[in-house]
Amino acid sequence: MFAQTLSFAVLAAASIASAADAPTISAVGSKFFFSNGTQYYIKGIAYQLTDQDPLIDKEQCTLDANMMADLGANTIRVYHVDPTADHDGCMTAFANAGIYLFLDLDTTDTQFNQSLPSWNQTQLSAFEAVLDTFQGYSNLAGVFVANEAMTMLNGSDTAPFIKAAIRDVKSYRQSKNYRDIPVGYSGADIPSLRPMLQNYLACGDDAADAADFFSLNVYEWCGESSFDGSGYSQLVANATGLQIPIFISETGCRIPKPRTFDDQDSILGTDMENTWSGAIVYEWIEESNDYGLISYGPKVDPMSNTAALDGYTRSGTPSPVTPDYSNLKSHWATLHPTGVALSAYSASAASLTPIACPSMTPNGWVVNPTASLPSLGETLDLATTSTGGLQSGKPTSTAKKGAAAVMKPASVMMGGNEVAGMGISLICVMLGFLFWL
Ligand SMILES: *[C@@H]1O[C@H](CO)[C@@H](O)[C@H](O)[C@H]1NC(C)=O
Ligand SMILES: *[C@@H]1O[C@H](CO)[C@@H](O)[C@H](O)[C@H]1NC(C)=O
Ligand SMILES: *[C@@H]1O[C@H](CO)[C@@H](O)[C@H](O)[C@H]1NC(C)=O
Ligand SMILES: *[C@@H]1O[C@H](CO)[C@@H](O)[C@H](O)[C@H]1NC(C)=O
Ligand SMILES: *[C@@H]1O[C@H](CO)[C@@H](O)[C@H](O)[C@H]1NC(C)=O
Repeated sequence: MFAQTLSFAVLAAASIASAADAPTISAVGSKFFFSNGTQYYIKGIAYQLTDQDPLIDKEQCTLDANMMADLGANTIRVYHVDPTADHDGCMTAFANAGIYLFLDLDTTDTQFNQSLPSWNQTQLSAFEAVLDTFQGYSNLAGVFVANEAMTMLNGSDTAPFIKAAIRDVKSYRQSKNYRDIPVGYSGADIPSLRPMLQNYLACGDDAADAADFFSLNVYEWCGESSFDGSGYSQLVANATGLQIPIFISETGCRIPKPRTFDDQDSILGTDMENTWSGAIVYEWIEESNDYGLISYGPKVDPMSNTAALDGYTRSGTPSPVTPDYSNLKSHWATLHPTGVALSAYSASAASLTPIACPSMTPNGWVVNPTASLPSLGETLDLATTSTGGLQSGKPTSTAKKGAAAVMKPASVMMGGNEVAGMGISLICVMLGFLFWL
């Protein structure tokens, strides 16, 4: 009896220790690895319930983490946090469920402005505060300095400021002796700026200036499609020779319904497992943009329940959106890429050479490949730029109904197939408002 109690106690202690000491993740060559040497592939979910920090309510995080484990996820992406809040409960809840975090360092106050790009101390200090708060969690997988900071064809002169931010966040990370938490960027999918942006952030002889990873928000595979038909084969072609990891930081075209998530078979299967490191599906909560995998209950009158914002309940017990949730779950249940062991890969990783810095293209990529990066405090001198190209479809502010709808991926409005979907969703939002009025 005593022995049995003791062994329970030992087991309980061991499981607590294993949550707190989840293997960390690092970027080695063009792949991610757990510290135990196994390659890490992302099966992720975008998780932002409101535009407030979703990682402070332990009870809510536990409910969601347990259901994400049922779905087969091993990663979440969070877009905005409050670095002054206590995140222990949520980070432990996700660690206990085997779930890692990719975190955006910026907020609406500190994000890049592609009309007048700059990189300044206010931004850096805010990014440092977020890193300070989260670096101690072993299930922090990586951080983004920005999400879709460039959405226009003529936005490419923002890229040096993004790269300067990566340089300075990495330098801060080293100065504080934090572990090598991967620092990268999450880009909008603009074919004419691809693969220049990805290669620019990765290029150069000084690894301290380069991104640790690149990621792309991709809404190309809609309904019945294929590796070639969707354009994913181009993504693989474009990533060939890239010496840092690359993954999809948002995906999940939702028109036509239901979402089948067939693209997961390519991403986590033989088509892409050698070049790409998985994908984050957009998104957890069902709200007016209609990308949700779960809902917290039926729609309510936003007038009488202000916590529901635009009528969508934003906390409670999650229940699956059918059949989308089970469609994703059944794909992930069959997909277990193993990749390569770190021990077998590290020698070839060390011999990889950085990809070449991209040349300028007329009315497109305007970044001089040999120019030095902006220093902290620099702002783009508009008088000296050679921009002025076409606009590729900057997201309209009318799409941003309700706080969390701010997370509506801009790239959706640029993808051919999704444009129609956007129209429908906007009409639905408007009808929804009329209905409640
Ligand atoms: C390494 O850790 C990951 C995450 O916990 C786990 O999935 C994997 O099986 C582990 N690999 C080994 C060799 O223990
Ligand atoms: C720093 O950049 C942010 C974000 O672009 C901007 O809002 C802010 O005004 C800038 N601050 C200074 C001092 O230039
Ligand atoms: C971005 O910069 C432009 C040009 O200076 C300015 O008009 C605009 O208000 C800025 N946007 C934000 C969100 O600060
Ligand atoms: C990258 O993809 C684009 C299509 O988006 C294609 O035109 C281009 O040839 C590809 N580049 C490389 C280097 O594979
Ligand atoms: C980019 O193009 C848009 C739309 O054509 C324009 O409003 C904007 O001023 C341009 N930005 C730059 C930096 O030239």
